[in-house]
Amino acid sequence: MNIRSKLAVSAVGSAALAAVLLAGSTLAQVGAPFVPRHKLRPALHQPHPGQLGDALVGLSAEQLALYTAGRDEFEAIETVEGGLGPIFNGNSCAGCHSAGGVGGASATTVTRFGRVVNGVFDPLDHLGGSLLQDKAIAPAVQETVPPEANVVAKRLSTPLFGAGLIEAVPDAEILLGAQRRQPDGVQGRAALVTDIASGKTRVGRFGWKAQQATLLAFAGDAYLNEMGVTNRYFPTENAPNGKQALLAIWDQVPELEDAVGPDGTSDIDHAADFMRLLAPPAPLRTTASALAGSRVFDRIHCSACHTPVLLSGASPVAALAHKPVPLYSDLLLHDMGKLGDGIEQGAAKMTEMRTAPLWGLRARGPFLHDGRAPTVDAAIRAHEGQGAPSRQRYKDLGAGERQQLLDFLATI
Ligand code: HEC
Ligand code: HEC
Repeated sequence: MNIRSKLAVSAVGSAALAAVLLAGSTLAQVGAPFVPRHKLRPALHQPHPGQLGDALVGLSAEQLALYTAGRDEFEAIETVEGGLGPIFNGNSCAGCHSAGGVGGASATTVTRFGRVVNGVFDPLDHLGGSLLQDKAIAPAVQETVPPEANVVAKRLSTPLFGAGLIEAVPDAEILLGAQRRQPDGVQGRAALVTDIASGKTRVGRFGWKAQQATLLAFAGDAYLNEMGVTNRYFPTENAPNGKQALLAIWDQVPELEDAVGPDGTSDIDHAADFMRLLAPPAPLRTTASALAGSRVFDRIHCSACHTPVLLSGASPVAALAHKPVPLYSDLLLHDMGKLGDGIEQGAAKMTEMRTAPLWGLRARGPFLHDGRAPTVDAAIRAHEGQGAPSRQRYKDLGAGERQQLLDFLATI
């Protein structure tokens, strides 16, 4: 079923909006009236078929084959002979991405570190930073957080359901959100990064710091930095805590470990195919309480950052093109004050974090970038910086309305 067909013009009665959302044709049609993005709301009344981890609905047979081959690659266990290590954090993508279905989140965290002097962040590259690899093919190469580090932060594994739709959101759509005047002085910032796969400056949208713009670039990054598998975008092996001599001894598999085949593709392409073609989390059937909670969500300005719907743009995959994407994020960086993780990465400053998409919340946990929040309630109460006024309104809600909001968040 097409997600768009389930859109309702719930909170707003604008005729222009109704015309666009209810028209059977694409949202990007020439001459379609402009829809203010903050007025888009997904319908909350019809469950979507399928399980988490399934492919998008409406793929061609060829696309479905790419999804299946990609999933095999995503679940494949890398071996030392195949290039795993010398230092790494996990031996398969699915090892850290499986909650609720293949491609989900998990409670596994990785560690970032760095050194801040006079407010300036140093990722300690020369000591193997900022990402720690906490596993090794031999004790001799085991990395540790160096004593020079004075910032250490955990990062929780995030879910990939619907990642292809997020990838298909045009940069311009995200930039539009950055221009919007918001209540409470909330202002997001687009994370401009160089996409290593295309060489272009793009708006980052993946990762807690919006550090990557495309799934192929993230796959290349993860193959090297989580598994120690060198590939065409990340061809240089990580030296254990920066020690090249140790690397020379222990790195025995020639680069590129993820070799490009005769068809021009390799494992990173297959993993990216799988993530791109993964279905988004299906909203659950709503209840009266959840419906009331959706209004509370708007009223206390959670939606200032957790934008209910963005629109995807053109895509060679019809199932991804010109679709409403009910992700509940503006994909922007926000200054979250003390909740920030203290790490500078890509375009993100120490206190800036990407608005976490809230779709599929029910299929994961713990929450927040370091997993500090065991419940959704605790995650909301930990909002700081630009999120503080909204958090305060949440705390001030009566128990009934607070429960309605949580009921709503459990359905999206
Ligand atoms: C050791 C655990 C681990 C392994 C193995 C791992 N990941 Fe991840 N993944 C994470 C963590 C932690 C994050 C959040 C990272 C961040 O933002 O700093 C993440 C985030 C991501 C994201 C960003 C999603 C979003 O929220 O925007 C993508 C894409 C991704 N991983 C793909 C992969 C792929 C592909 C592989 C296999 C090559 C892989 N991961 C292997 C832990 C892992
Ligand atoms: C100023 C922007 C902003 C506002 C307003 C805001 N959030 Fe967030 N939210 C974020 C950011 C950024 C994160 C990720 C922070 C982190 O983990 O460091 C986040 C994380 C979350 C998470 C955890 C998601 C996960 O995957 O771990 C939940 C739940 C959440 N927000 C709900 C809410 C609710 C409910 C409200 C309204 C009371 C709200 N937020 C208001 C920006 C905002």
